[in-house]
Parts: sequence; structure tokens; C-alpha cells
Amino acid sequence: MSSVKKAVFPVAGLGTRMLPATKVLPKEMLPVVDKPILQYALEEAKAAGIEEFVFVTGRGKSILEDHFDRAYELFDTLERKQKTEALAELESWLPTAGTVVYTRQQQPLGLGHAVWCARHLIGNEPFVVSLVDDLILGDVPCTGELIQAHEQTGGNVVATMEVPLEHTSRYGILDPGKVEGRLVEAKAMVEKPEPEAAPSRYAVIGRYVLLPEIFDHLERQERGAGGEIQLTDAMARMLGAHPFHGYVFSGERHDCGDKLGYLEAIVAAASRRADLKAGLGDVLRRYV
Ligand code: G1P
Repeated sequence: MSSVKKAVFPVAGLGTRMLPATKVLPKEMLPVVDKPILQYALEEAKAAGIEEFVFVTGRGKSILEDHFDRAYELFDTLERKQKTEALAELESWLPTAGTVVYTRQQQPLGLGHAVWCARHLIGNEPFVVSLVDDLILGDVPCTGELIQAHEQTGGNVVATMEVPLEHTSRYGILDPGKVEGRLVEAKAMVEKPEPEAAPSRYAVIGRYVLLPEIFDHLERQERGAGGEIQLTDAMARMLGAHPFHGYVFSGERHDCGDKLGYLEAIVAAASRRADLKAGLGDVLRRYV
């Protein structure tokens, strides 16, 4: 049984890096093979024992709610046509009634602000934050690895991986202390430093297990990098008061917010599918 039951999915972003596809369609609904991006993160959270799913949405995102609802006509038609396999697949990931909640981030004030918008829905318990753009494929769900690490350390844990030095300005970067196996103690952290200022190459990837005290720090609404209320800054203020670690997760991460990363995610996800792998090889050889 997992000790962490709730996950926050900040999904209010405009997805400008994927225009024009995201002009009308929320970026989280773009398909990776045959599932929208956000469904991968939801299934990963569910596999890790999460029972309540909090989506922080924004204007133009209401089809996200439809996606997690029962589509009566579709279900009825599949039932009548005895398409039992398709029906079972749809049922398998549909969240139980009352376990998905939505709130809106009314202004684009940053990731820290988006997480703060979920404060009343989380209350006083540790919780997961999952950034769905970071699609993580692997045999063990990354969220589950972080929850186990949190149970071991009793503190905050963020997913981390080493990135090329020239990419540090895209990420929150950890200043590492002791490294024990996959656990990297965090002494400090900084949001999107230029390579010369980066304390390491350990980048924060979009999965977090956070203590509820984070809300006290987010409450101050202080602006950081890019003039936004940064989650990294609020996390940095918790250092010293609670254990804080990065966890070098075992899966592979694909950045679906970037065109090439998105293509890579599709190829990677398809290559894990028995029904597509062989055909995919032929297609790639033909075009690349
Ligand atoms: C956010 C966080 C950053 C983190 C990154 C992971 O940045 O602010 O610390 O490293 O996600 O994907 P964003 O990608 O939203 O700019």
C-alpha cells in the first residue's frame, strides 16, 4: 500500500512550442501512438497506488474532463457490437467516479502557482506532482520509485537525470551532496541556470513527491526565474528543514513539449508495442 494517495497534474500551459497543433487542441491531448500524452502520466500514477487525481487546468482545456468521463454512446455502441476487447481497454484506465478533480489556474503565473492552486484539494499530506510533458517509459513506474524513496527518506524527492551541460538552462538543477545508489542528496537547487552557473548536470525531471509544507512557501507568491512563481524556489526554501533528494529513475524520459522529443516519444512508445514494433522498423528504414 502506498503512503501517498494524491497527485497533482498541472495542465494549464498553452503549449506554444507545438503550434499550430495546440491552437485548439490542448497539448496534453496530443496522441502518442493511440493514447493522449496525459493518459500515460495518469496510468503511471495509478500503477504507483495514487487514488486521487487533481488536474490544474485552464481555459480551453475542458476536453480533458471529457476524456476521463464515460462516453455513454461509445460504450453503449461497443457493448451492442460486442467489441469486448475495445470496451475492456477503455474501462481499464477510466478513473472511478469521484477520484478525478479539476480546478483552474486563472492566470499563467508559473508552475509553483499552478501547484498552489491545488492546496485545498491536497490538504496536509505528502503528494505527487506529475508534469505530463515528461513522458517516462519503463518497466517500473517512475512515480512508484519516487514514493518508495520518499518512504525511505521521509522527505521530498524529485526525479532526476544527468543532462548535457549545454541544456542546464532548460531545467531545475540540483547541487548534489552525498550520492548513494540512485539517491542524490540535494544541498541546493536553482531554476534554469546557464551552464557556467549550474551546480551540476543533475536536472529535475517532472515527477515530484512533496511534503505539504511546500504550500507555506508557495503562499508567499514570490517571483523567480522568468518572472514566474517557481516550484523550484519554494522547494529550495524547504532545504535544511526536511530531507531532500533527487532519485535517478530507471525509465527513459521523452520531452513531449518539444517537436523532436514528441516524435521520439511516439517511436519509443511504439517500439514497446508487440503489435507495432516490426512494422515500425520497416517504416523508419524507408524514411530515415
Ligand atoms: C519545469 C520546472 C523545471 C523542471 C522541468 C522538467 O520547467 O520548472 O524545474 O526541470 O519542468 O521538465 P518547464 O519545462 O515547465 O519550463
